[in-house]
Order: sequence, then structure tokens, then C-alpha cells
Amino acid sequence: LKPVKVGICGLGTVGSGTFNILRNNAEEITRRVGRSIVVEQIGARQVNPTCDTTDINTTGDIFEVANNPDIDIVVELIGGTSVARELVLTAIENGKHVVTANKALIAEYGNEIFAKAQAKGVMVAFEAAVAGGIPIIKMLREGLSSNKIEWLAGIINGTGNFIMTEMSEKGRAFDDVLKEAQELGYAEADPTFDVEGIDAAHKLTILASIAYGIPLQFEKTYTEGISRITAEDVSFARELGYSIKHLGVARRTKAGVELRVHPTLISQKALLANVNGVMNAVMVKGDAVGPTLTYGAGAGAMPTGSSVVADIIDVARTLTADPTNRVPHLAFQPDQLSDAEI
Ligand code: HSE
Repeated sequence: LKPVKVGICGLGTVGSGTFNILRNNAEEITRRVGRSIVVEQIGARQVNPTCDTTDINTTGDIFEVANNPDIDIVVELIGGTSVARELVLTAIENGKHVVTANKALIAEYGNEIFAKAQAKGVMVAFEAAVAGGIPIIKMLREGLSSNKIEWLAGIINGTGNFIMTEMSEKGRAFDDVLKEAQELGYAEADPTFDVEGIDAAHKLTILASIAYGIPLQFEKTYTEGISRITAEDVSFARELGYSIKHLGVARRTKAGVELRVHPTLISQKALLANVNGVMNAVMVKGDAVGPTLTYGAGAGAMPTGSSVVADIIDVARTLTADPTNRVPHLAFQPDQLSDAEI
């Protein structure tokens, strides 16, 4: 089978993780998919020193990637909503599948993007848009798809949780920790999205859409951030046996689905109270399965790249004609194993 050809737009934190995982794990990926996945072109304004892109066709014009007839999957990792929206709609118009890590784009323009993708018969995958490396989208859409979701609650902004943890455990100042989160590549380009709850609201909107099968309703989400939490708040909470965590909560009510993000007092004995630093965790209560909990890094190059590449693999599997490969029933490709490998 011919390789699946990918065009990566944006080579910042997430782009570099994506590129390096595709490189480092190429052998495992080919084994799982049954064909190789190659980076055909990169659209980026500048090279990234963590990526060896010397042998890759690189352009400063991301629309060249969306219009490249050789590319099967456009990976949108530029962030923001205006150029990113145009790029994704162009790629879809050209019949290309799209993988994106862009939560703002999906939460605010997802209804339009999915409608266009459906009309053109292409896939739009966005696992990396929520909770970095945790496969929560796949878990809701696949593993828990038989359940009525009663509620879900999660720590879904790594930067905010990193700030709260450092304030609480080391008594550090808010601004000092935020600066470190920016240096580590955790924070959004505009960090007010992290500290004012907007990033978490984007992610909650996406989770609720999948959990409840409803359109994306970002504007209906009650949004409060962590910017008004003081060191005193954190230490008083601690004395009383609580942690302050910034949660995103979606709940089925008689009046519809309630969506809210805000700081919450949680007993230190609760699992979520012990999710610290850049880690994220999402609890989902299904009527059949009961409560579930997933945990992992919520931001950073490699964890987020892990989810982007998982989506590229999903799309590549679906593109493979053999129906046994469309849903990963098989852990490997039996027809491609040699005796030596067995
Ligand atoms: N700024 C985001 C966070 C990045 O800190 O969670 C991952 O979505």
C-alpha cells in the first residue's frame, strides 16, 4: 500500500512533538496501520531546532499545504481561529482529511467545520484539542458510547493546574509560575485564555458535545478562571482539608445540559484533589459503567503530539481499504508478519 501523506501546518510546541513522534515511532506506526505515514510537507514560518526537517519540503505558506494535491491529511497546529478556520475549510474543500489540536477552533467553529466535512465526505479529528495526551475524546466516543452520560468533571487546563499546584505546594507567586508555564510551552499564545477559564470552556464545550450528542455551545458555558485566587485562599483551603481545583463540569439536568468552568473546593481525600502540576484528569459518570477516571499530561509537546499522531493513525486506518483495519480490531497486520518477526 502507498504511504499516507501528511502535511503539518505549524511547527511550534505541538507541531514539534507531532513531527518527532511520527519520526521516532515510524516502525511501530507502520506495523499498526499496515502502511507508512510520511510527512510530505511542512508549513511553518520558521524551523524548529528540536526537529530535523532538512529532508522535508518546507514552505512559509500554509495554504500551499492545504492545496498540495499529494497530501491526504492536513494537520492544523497553528492555533488561533481566523487563519486556522480558513486553512481547515480550504483543506476540506480540497477533499483532505484534517487533524487539529485547536480547541478554540473546534469549540467556536466546529458546527460549521463538521457540516462542511460531512458534505465533502472527509474526516476531522481533534483528540489533542482536549486534555493533551489523555485519549478522552476516543474514550467518550468509543469506550463509553453505550452509556447515558450523567456528568463529567475534569481538570482540563494544565497551565492553570500547574499554577495552582506551585502556589499551594511551594508558595510561589502567580505571575512567576505563569511565566514558567509559558517557557515550558504549556500556556496558550494569549495566557489569559488559561487563567480566565476560556481554554477550559473550549474543552468542556467539546467534551459535552460528544458526551451528549449536542452541537457545540461555547457561548452557553459559564466561565470563571483562577486569576482572582490568592495565596491566602489556597492556604485557608488547605488548613480546612481542601484543595482548590479549577474544574470543567457538564451535567445532564431536566432543563438541558449544564456547562460550567470555575474554581472548586475539593476534599484532599478525593482523587481529583491529588492531580497536580500540568497533569489533567477527567471523571465521567455513565449510567451503565459508573464512575471512570482518566489521568495524564494536559499540555506539552510530546503528550499533545501523542494525541495528534493517534488521530493521524486513525484517519490512515480508515483510508486503508481493508475493512478489518478501519476500526482497530487487530493489534497488528497478520498478513505483513514474517516468520522471523513471529
Ligand atoms: N494551554 C493549554 C493548557 C494547552 O495549559 O492546558 C493544552 O491544551
